[in-house]
Amino acid sequence: MINGRGSAVAFDHVSKSFGTKQVLHDVSFDVRAGEALCVLGRSGTGKSVTLKLIVSLIKPDQGKIWVEQDEITHLAESELSRVRRKMGFLFQDAALFDSLTLYENLALPLLRLTGKSQEEADLIIDKVLHQVGLAGDKKTMPSELSGGMRKRAGLARALVLEPKILLADEPSSGLDRITSSEIDDLLLMQKQEHNTALIVVTHDVRGAKRLGDRIVVLDKGRLIADGSFGQIEHSDSEVARNLVTE
Ligand SMILES: Nc1ncnc2c1ncn2[C@@H]1O[C@H](COP(=O)(O)OP(=O)(O)OP(=O)(O)O)[C@@H](O)[C@H]1O
Ligand SMILES: [Mg+2]
Repeated sequence: MINGRGSAVAFDHVSKSFGTKQVLHDVSFDVRAGEALCVLGRSGTGKSVTLKLIVSLIKPDQGKIWVEQDEITHLAESELSRVRRKMGFLFQDAALFDSLTLYENLALPLLRLTGKSQEEADLIIDKVLHQVGLAGDKKTMPSELSGGMRKRAGLARALVLEPKILLADEPSSGLDRITSSEIDDLLLMQKQEHNTALIVVTHDVRGAKRLGDRIVVLDKGRLIADGSFGQIEHSDSEVARNLVTE
């Protein structure tokens, strides 16, 4: 039974509607520390809504959502801030502040959200920018970065906070194959070196195969398959099978 204990994130019979439109129906899954879960599904099936529920940007109508030992659906805002500190979110569009340099984009959340000193923050920023291959771009403005660099910058901003749980919404969309596999490598490294739980929404079948310890498939708001990539390839569901066929 899913109760959140022992899981980094768990959904327990979660449903969500917007107005009369139900976008998630009775969805349950869980992710452990050090595990990468890839979420596949056609456009409009509720993948981004699922990530937004995990960070409590929106609330479910029914069901429970666990982040480690906390059931978050009824937490007060002050408690939610504590829980959100465990999570990094790589948004689809990287969501950088355009008027700040790359360095400032990383330093701002780091200094505001943690008790780190300027010196400690600078060390972390240098390390992470080096990891994502942007060590020479501290003073670069976001508008001067390419699409792939922006993704890596967005990832760097999530990583400086040293999250235990990393959520990524289509980290490789719009990127060429080599650049997107570089992003996947960075996610894998984070998982292996820090035992981070990863939840990655993706349309990239090849990436999901390499990155995902487990795959869940959403279809019209229902979770129709949950298993290894090989299990999804042989799923009873034709929709699930088609999604993992390149
Ligand atoms: N704030 C909202 N208000 C009303 N409807 C919403 C809201 N957010 C999402 N929806 C609806 O919920 C459904 C699922 O949206 P979601 O963004 O999760 O899709 P998705 O699976 O991420 O699709 P894509 O692959 O295109 O990003 C869509 O029909 C969308 O219109
Ligand atoms: Mg989406």
